[in-house]
Amino acid sequence: MDLKDYIRDIPDFPEPGILFRDITPLLANPQAFDHAVAQLATRCSDAAFDAVVAVESRGFIFGAPLARELGKPLVPVRKPGKLPADTHSVEYDLEYGSNVLEIHSDGITPGQRVLIVDDLLAIGGTLSAASHLVEACGGEVVLLAVVIELLFLDGRSRLEGRELVSLIQY
Ligand code: PRP
Ligand code: ADE
Repeated sequence: MDLKDYIRDIPDFPEPGILFRDITPLLANPQAFDHAVAQLATRCSDAAFDAVVAVESRGFIFGAPLARELGKPLVPVRKPGKLPADTHSVEYDLEYGSNVLEIHSDGITPGQRVLIVDDLLAIGGTLSAASHLVEACGGEVVLLAVVIELLFLDGRSRLEGRELVSLIQY
């Protein structure tokens, strides 16, 4: 199955000049969704990690079933003001705009090895910020995983040498 068949291109969203890679056709097809989660599980299975961190919002869609598939705890990284207990917080840049992400300070315990999951790597600000949050908790980021990688934006250069797997590249 070619997962690219289930990604829709939307020009000029959310602002002029951005070609938005829309995952909703993939989510609407149970076989394609299953395939994406199974592929992520296979590609991540060689790494040794204790927990899966998923990034709000679209990262939750893949991170939750992946954590269940792998039998690992799921830890959310969220947009600001959503997590109820003590948090670590970091500001970051996006392909469009900037934002803040947070993690519960006790979401990852010192020494835990972590897989971070998101739907897409663009300029890398989100995964870099999520990595810094895990590290602020004392965790070790052993692997990053995305469904889509936008190669032309060279997001990997922001990831400070951390290993990344991606299922689809543009
Ligand atoms: C999108 C996407 C990634 C991020 C990638 O999230 O889901 O998390 O951008 O971009 P980057 O590599 O340039 O950081 P967005 O903040 O639009 O939020 P959403 O998941 O809530 O739609
Ligand atoms: N997040 C950041 N850039 C994106 C893009 N081009 N398409 C979908 N999600 C994105």
